[in-house]
Amino acid sequence: MNAPNWPRIKEILDTALRRWAAEHNREPKLKVSHPGGLSWATKEELATSAPYELQLIETNKVGNGRATETNLIKILTRNLGGFRRMPSRGPYLSTGEIQEIVDWIDAGMPD
Ligand code: HEM
Repeated sequence: MNAPNWPRIKEILDTALRRWAAEHNREPKLKVSHPGGLSWATKEELATSAPYELQLIETNKVGNGRATETNLIKILTRNLGGFRRMPSRGPYLSTGEIQEIVDWIDAGMPD
């Protein structure tokens, strides 16, 4: 498996927000929409972001084939708890983009 690196993962997430802005004709208000925080300037920031107390990438699910159990992968794929799939109301990440994030987490989140 040739795992993607962090710059690629950041690009996927940044691109998702640009697509969202184009579709909804405004910039997404990530800060007000995600109390507890949601940001990914660094991979550590992404992993420890915990909107609504749901930590995006729990340490014990990194590097061991459990990426699909992380809150990040769950919410990019389907509803999670009372929350709808993200980015809210789409456009959603493609299956291939989500798989890249899965592979990256399973590979131990390489730089
Ligand atoms: C556990 C993780 C997350 C939770 C609980 C969560 C929850 C929410 C909630 C409650 C809202 C506002 C209500 C709504 O529009 O549904 C929202 C909006 C949004 N979320 Fe999330 N979210 C999560 C992760 C993410 C991620 C990873 C992304 C991007 C890849 C994302 C992108 C967005 C966007 C673009 C909006 C719309 C903001 C706006 O209207 O200006 N969210 N989220």
